[in-house]
Amino acid sequence: MRLGFIGTGAISAAVIHGISKAWGDANAIVVSPRSAEISQDLAQRYRWVRRAESNQEVVDNSDILFLGVMPQQATEVLRSLQLREGQIVASFVAGLEVATLQELTGPSVEVCRITPLPPIAQLEGPVMLYPGLGQVRQLIAPLGVLIEPESDAAMAALSTASGLMSSFFRLSQEAIGWLEERDLPRTQARDYVMAMFAALSKTALRHDPAALEALPRAHETPGGINEACREFLEQERWFETFALGMDAIDERARSLSD
Ligand SMILES: NC(=O)c1ccc[n+]([C@@H]2O[C@H](COP(=O)([O-])OP(=O)(O)OC[C@H]3O[C@@H](n4cnc5c(N)ncnc54)[C@H](OP(=O)(O)O)[C@@H]3O)[C@@H](O)[C@H]2O)c1
Repeated sequence: MRLGFIGTGAISAAVIHGISKAWGDANAIVVSPRSAEISQDLAQRYRWVRRAESNQEVVDNSDILFLGVMPQQATEVLRSLQLREGQIVASFVAGLEVATLQELTGPSVEVCRITPLPPIAQLEGPVMLYPGLGQVRQLIAPLGVLIEPESDAAMAALSTASGLMSSFFRLSQEAIGWLEERDLPRTQARDYVMAMFAALSKTALRHDPAALEALPRAHETPGGINEACREFLEQERWFETFALGMDAIDERARSLSD
Protein backbone atom coordinates (compact mmCIF):
# COMPACT_ATOMS: atom_id res chain seq x y z
CA MET A 1 0.00 0.00 0.00
CA ARG A 2 1.10 3.62 -0.54
CA LEU A 3 1.26 5.38 2.83
CA GLY A 4 1.89 9.09 3.36
CA PHE A 5 2.75 10.98 6.56
CA ILE A 6 2.31 14.73 6.96
CA GLY A 7 4.01 15.95 10.13
CA THR A 8 7.00 13.66 10.61
CA GLY A 9 7.38 14.14 14.36
CA ALA A 10 7.61 11.81 17.34
CA ILE A 11 4.40 9.83 16.84
CA SER A 12 4.65 9.49 13.05
CA ALA A 13 8.20 8.18 13.48
CA ALA A 14 7.04 5.65 16.10
CA VAL A 15 4.25 4.43 13.77
CA ILE A 16 6.65 4.15 10.81
CA HIS A 17 9.05 2.10 12.94
CA GLY A 18 6.11 -0.14 13.91
CA ILE A 19 4.84 -0.51 10.32
CA SER A 20 8.37 -1.29 9.15
CA LYS A 21 8.83 -3.91 11.86
CA ALA A 22 5.45 -5.54 11.17
CA TRP A 23 5.30 -5.27 7.37
CA GLY A 24 8.90 -4.89 6.16
CA ASP A 25 8.98 -3.61 2.57
CA ALA A 26 5.28 -4.35 1.90
CA ASN A 27 4.37 -0.63 1.85
CA ALA A 28 5.78 2.39 0.01
CA ILE A 29 6.01 5.18 2.58
CA VAL A 30 6.44 8.84 1.76
CA VAL A 31 7.02 11.41 4.52
CA SER A 32 6.72 15.20 4.60
CA PRO A 33 10.04 17.04 4.98
CA ARG A 34 9.25 18.50 8.44
CA SER A 35 10.80 17.61 10.91
CA ALA A 36 13.96 17.53 8.75
CA GLU A 37 16.05 15.44 11.14
CA ILE A 38 13.41 12.78 11.73
CA SER A 39 12.34 12.47 8.08
CA GLN A 40 15.97 12.22 6.92
CA ASP A 41 16.69 9.55 9.52
CA LEU A 42 13.64 7.47 8.48
CA ALA A 43 14.51 7.71 4.78
CA GLN A 44 18.09 6.67 5.53
CA ARG A 45 17.10 3.79 7.78
CA TYR A 46 14.40 2.16 5.59
CA ARG A 47 14.67 1.73 1.82
CA TRP A 48 10.83 1.79 1.56
CA VAL A 49 10.66 5.31 3.08
CA ARG A 50 11.13 8.37 0.87
CA ARG A 51 11.30 11.99 2.00
CA ALA A 52 9.09 14.26 -0.16
CA GLU A 53 9.80 17.89 -1.01
CA SER A 54 6.36 19.11 0.07
CA ASN A 55 3.14 18.12 1.83
CA GLN A 56 1.27 17.98 -1.50
CA GLU A 57 3.82 15.51 -2.88
CA VAL A 58 2.96 13.26 0.07
CA VAL A 59 -0.76 13.52 -0.75
CA ASP A 60 -0.17 12.74 -4.43
CA ASN A 61 1.77 9.58 -3.59
CA SER A 62 -0.42 8.00 -0.93
CA ASP A 63 -3.62 5.99 -0.63
CA ILE A 64 -3.72 6.35 3.14
CA LEU A 65 -2.58 9.74 4.40
CA PHE A 66 -1.62 9.98 8.09
CA LEU A 67 -1.80 13.37 9.75
CA GLY A 68 0.77 13.82 12.53
CA VAL A 69 0.86 17.57 13.13
CA MET A 70 -0.05 19.31 16.41
CA PRO A 71 -3.74 20.17 16.98
CA GLN A 72 -3.17 23.91 16.44
CA GLN A 73 -1.55 23.18 13.03
CA ALA A 74 -4.11 20.69 11.72
CA THR A 75 -6.74 23.04 10.24
CA GLU A 76 -4.26 25.10 8.26
CA VAL A 77 -2.39 22.02 7.00
CA LEU A 78 -5.56 20.17 5.93
CA ARG A 79 -6.98 23.26 4.17
CA SER A 80 -3.79 23.61 2.13
CA LEU A 81 -3.99 20.07 0.65
CA GLN A 82 -5.60 18.91 -2.60
CA LEU A 83 -6.97 15.50 -1.60
CA ARG A 84 -8.16 12.88 -4.11
CA GLU A 85 -11.55 11.19 -4.21
CA GLY A 86 -11.40 7.86 -2.41
CA GLN A 87 -8.23 8.75 -0.47
CA ILE A 88 -8.20 7.86 3.23
CA VAL A 89 -7.10 10.43 5.81
CA ALA A 90 -6.10 8.88 9.16
CA SER A 91 -5.52 11.50 11.82
CA PHE A 92 -3.37 11.16 14.96
CA VAL A 93 -4.40 14.66 16.09
CA ALA A 94 -5.71 14.66 19.66
CA GLY A 95 -9.16 16.17 20.05
CA LEU A 96 -9.85 16.57 16.31
CA GLU A 97 -13.22 14.83 16.10
CA VAL A 98 -14.39 12.84 13.08
CA ALA A 99 -17.10 15.34 11.99
CA THR A 100 -14.60 18.25 12.01
CA LEU A 101 -11.99 16.15 10.23
CA GLN A 102 -14.54 15.25 7.53
CA GLU A 103 -15.52 18.92 7.19
CA LEU A 104 -11.87 19.92 6.72
CA THR A 105 -11.10 17.18 4.20
CA GLY A 106 -14.39 17.36 2.24
CA PRO A 107 -16.90 14.56 1.61
CA SER A 108 -15.01 12.74 -1.16
CA VAL A 109 -12.38 11.25 1.17
CA GLU A 110 -12.81 8.70 3.96
CA VAL A 111 -11.56 9.70 7.40
CA CYS A 112 -10.66 7.99 10.63
CA ARG A 113 -8.80 8.75 13.86
CA ILE A 114 -5.91 6.70 15.20
CA THR A 115 -4.41 7.14 18.66
CA PRO A 116 -1.09 5.32 18.95
CA LEU A 117 1.35 5.54 21.84
CA PRO A 118 5.17 5.65 21.50
CA PRO A 119 5.65 1.87 22.27
CA ILE A 120 3.96 1.19 18.91
CA ALA A 121 7.53 1.45 17.55
CA GLN A 122 8.17 -1.94 19.22
CA LEU A 123 4.69 -3.29 18.30
CA GLU A 124 3.55 -2.82 21.89
CA GLY A 125 0.82 -0.91 23.69
CA PRO A 126 -2.73 0.03 22.78
CA VAL A 127 -3.67 1.62 19.46
CA MET A 128 -7.15 3.09 19.02
CA LEU A 129 -9.02 3.30 15.72
CA TYR A 130 -12.33 5.10 15.11
CA PRO A 131 -14.25 4.58 12.93
CA GLY A 132 -13.01 1.12 11.99
CA LEU A 133 -12.09 1.50 8.30
CA GLY A 134 -11.17 -1.96 7.00
CA GLN A 135 -7.95 -1.08 5.14
CA VAL A 136 -6.60 0.91 8.08
CA ARG A 137 -7.58 -1.81 10.55
CA GLN A 138 -5.70 -4.42 8.53
CA LEU A 139 -2.59 -2.23 8.41
CA ILE A 140 -2.44 -1.30 12.11
CA ALA A 141 -3.81 -4.48 13.74
CA PRO A 142 -0.31 -6.05 14.00
CA LEU A 143 1.15 -2.89 15.58
CA GLY A 144 -0.25 -3.34 19.08
CA VAL A 145 -3.41 -4.15 20.99
CA LEU A 146 -6.12 -2.77 18.69
CA ILE A 147 -8.97 -0.99 20.47
CA GLU A 148 -11.99 0.26 18.53
CA PRO A 149 -14.04 2.80 20.50
CA GLU A 150 -17.48 3.56 19.11
CA SER A 151 -17.45 7.36 19.36
CA ASP A 152 -15.19 10.39 19.75
CA ALA A 153 -16.35 10.59 23.37
CA ALA A 154 -15.30 7.00 24.07
CA MET A 155 -11.93 7.68 22.43
CA ALA A 156 -11.45 10.75 24.65
CA ALA A 157 -12.36 8.76 27.78
CA LEU A 158 -9.87 6.00 26.94
CA SER A 159 -7.20 8.62 26.26
CA THR A 160 -7.49 9.63 29.92
CA ALA A 161 -5.62 6.46 30.83
CA SER A 162 -2.64 7.56 28.72
CA GLY A 163 -2.13 10.37 31.25
CA LEU A 164 -0.97 7.67 33.68
CA MET A 165 2.30 6.98 31.86
CA SER A 166 4.62 9.31 33.75
CA SER A 167 3.01 8.38 37.09
CA PHE A 168 3.64 4.71 36.30
CA PHE A 169 7.35 5.41 35.89
CA ARG A 170 7.35 7.56 39.02
CA LEU A 171 5.79 4.67 40.97
CA SER A 172 8.31 2.21 39.51
CA GLN A 173 11.14 4.53 40.56
CA GLU A 174 9.92 4.44 44.16
CA ALA A 175 10.17 0.63 44.18
CA ILE A 176 13.57 0.60 42.42
CA GLY A 177 14.93 3.40 44.65
CA TRP A 178 13.76 1.58 47.79
CA LEU A 179 15.73 -1.49 46.70
CA GLU A 180 18.80 0.60 45.85
CA GLU A 181 18.74 2.11 49.34
CA ARG A 182 19.16 -1.48 50.54
CA ASP A 183 22.32 -1.84 48.43
CA LEU A 184 20.77 -3.71 45.52
CA PRO A 185 22.47 -2.87 42.21
CA ARG A 186 20.21 -0.61 40.11
CA THR A 187 20.14 -3.01 37.15
CA GLN A 188 18.98 -5.92 39.28
CA ALA A 189 16.36 -3.78 40.98
CA ARG A 190 15.12 -2.43 37.62
CA ASP A 191 15.03 -5.86 36.00
CA TYR A 192 13.15 -7.47 38.88
CA VAL A 193 10.52 -4.75 39.32
CA MET A 194 9.87 -4.04 35.65
CA ALA A 195 9.83 -7.70 34.54
CA MET A 196 7.29 -8.36 37.30
CA PHE A 197 5.07 -5.43 36.21
CA ALA A 198 5.32 -6.54 32.56
CA ALA A 199 4.27 -10.09 33.48
CA LEU A 200 1.37 -8.82 35.62
CA SER A 201 0.08 -6.70 32.70
CA LYS A 202 0.15 -9.78 30.48
CA THR A 203 -1.72 -11.76 33.14
CA ALA A 204 -4.48 -9.12 33.20
CA LEU A 205 -4.66 -9.03 29.37
CA ARG A 206 -5.18 -12.82 29.28
CA HIS A 207 -7.74 -12.80 32.10
CA ASP A 208 -11.52 -12.78 31.59
CA PRO A 209 -12.39 -9.04 31.60
CA ALA A 210 -15.61 -9.79 33.51
CA ALA A 211 -13.60 -11.17 36.42
CA LEU A 212 -10.74 -8.65 36.73
CA GLU A 213 -11.76 -7.88 40.33
CA ALA A 214 -10.55 -11.37 41.28
CA LEU A 215 -6.92 -10.59 40.39
CA PRO A 216 -5.86 -8.74 43.58
CA ARG A 217 -7.02 -11.62 45.84
CA ALA A 218 -5.58 -14.19 43.40
CA HIS A 219 -2.17 -12.57 44.01
CA GLU A 220 -2.42 -12.55 47.80
CA THR A 221 -1.89 -15.14 50.50
CA PRO A 222 -3.98 -14.45 53.64
CA GLY A 223 -1.57 -12.82 56.10
CA GLY A 224 1.08 -12.53 53.38
CA ILE A 225 3.14 -9.67 51.96
CA ASN A 226 0.81 -8.66 49.11
CA GLU A 227 -2.16 -8.44 51.46
CA ALA A 228 -0.06 -6.37 53.88
CA CYS A 229 0.79 -3.81 51.21
CA ARG A 230 -2.71 -3.59 49.72
CA GLU A 231 -4.34 -3.20 53.15
CA PHE A 232 -1.84 -0.51 54.16
CA LEU A 233 -2.52 1.42 50.95
CA GLU A 234 -6.31 0.96 51.40
CA GLN A 235 -6.01 2.48 54.90
CA GLU A 236 -4.03 5.39 53.48
CA ARG A 237 -6.83 5.87 50.87
CA TRP A 238 -4.11 5.59 48.22
CA PHE A 239 -6.38 3.94 45.62
CA GLU A 240 -9.07 6.62 46.02
CA THR A 241 -6.38 9.26 45.55
CA PHE A 242 -5.21 7.45 42.45
CA ALA A 243 -8.76 7.61 41.01
CA LEU A 244 -8.73 11.37 41.73
CA GLY A 245 -5.62 11.49 39.54
CA MET A 246 -7.77 10.18 36.66
CA ASP A 247 -10.21 13.06 37.33
CA ALA A 248 -7.28 15.49 37.20
CA ILE A 249 -6.19 14.10 33.82
CA ASP A 250 -9.75 14.39 32.51
CA GLU A 251 -10.08 17.97 33.74
CA ARG A 252 -6.78 18.99 32.13
CA ALA A 253 -7.71 17.31 28.82
CA ARG A 254 -11.05 19.16 28.75
CA SER A 255 -9.40 22.52 29.48
CA LEU A 256 -6.87 21.92 26.68
CA SER A 257 -9.62 21.16 24.15
CA ASP A 258 -11.68 24.29 25.05
N1 LIG B 1 3.34 11.86 20.94
C1 LIG B 1 2.36 11.01 21.28
O1 LIG B 1 2.54 10.10 22.13
C2 LIG B 1 1.01 11.10 20.61
C3 LIG B 1 0.09 10.07 20.80
C4 LIG B 1 -1.13 10.13 20.15
C5 LIG B 1 -1.46 11.22 19.35
N2 LIG B 1 -0.56 12.22 19.21
C6 LIG B 1 -0.93 13.36 18.33
O2 LIG B 1 -0.04 13.34 17.23
C7 LIG B 1 0.21 14.67 16.78
C8 LIG B 1 1.72 14.86 16.69
O3 LIG B 1 2.29 14.68 17.98
P1 LIG B 1 3.87 14.50 18.14
O4 LIG B 1 4.10 14.19 19.56
O5 LIG B 1 4.37 13.59 17.09
O6 LIG B 1 4.33 16.02 17.86
P2 LIG B 1 5.69 16.54 17.17
O7 LIG B 1 6.80 15.61 17.47
O8 LIG B 1 5.81 17.98 17.53
O9 LIG B 1 5.32 16.41 15.63
C9 LIG B 1 4.61 17.38 14.91
C10 LIG B 1 5.27 17.45 13.57
O10 LIG B 1 4.53 18.28 12.68
C11 LIG B 1 5.48 19.00 11.89
N3 LIG B 1 4.80 20.14 11.27
C12 LIG B 1 4.44 21.30 11.83
N4 LIG B 1 3.84 22.10 10.91
C13 LIG B 1 3.83 21.40 9.76
C14 LIG B 1 3.37 21.68 8.45
N5 LIG B 1 2.76 22.84 8.14
N6 LIG B 1 3.53 20.75 7.49
C15 LIG B 1 4.14 19.56 7.77
N7 LIG B 1 4.60 19.24 9.00
C16 LIG B 1 4.45 20.15 9.97
C17 LIG B 1 6.54 19.38 12.87
O11 LIG B 1 7.71 19.77 12.18
P3 LIG B 1 8.77 20.85 12.80
O12 LIG B 1 9.51 20.10 13.87
O13 LIG B 1 9.61 21.18 11.62
O14 LIG B 1 7.94 21.98 13.32
C18 LIG B 1 6.69 18.07 13.63
O15 LIG B 1 7.55 17.18 12.95
C19 LIG B 1 -0.46 15.60 17.76
O16 LIG B 1 -1.65 16.13 17.19
C20 LIG B 1 -0.79 14.73 18.97
O17 LIG B 1 -2.02 15.11 19.56
C21 LIG B 1 0.67 12.17 19.79
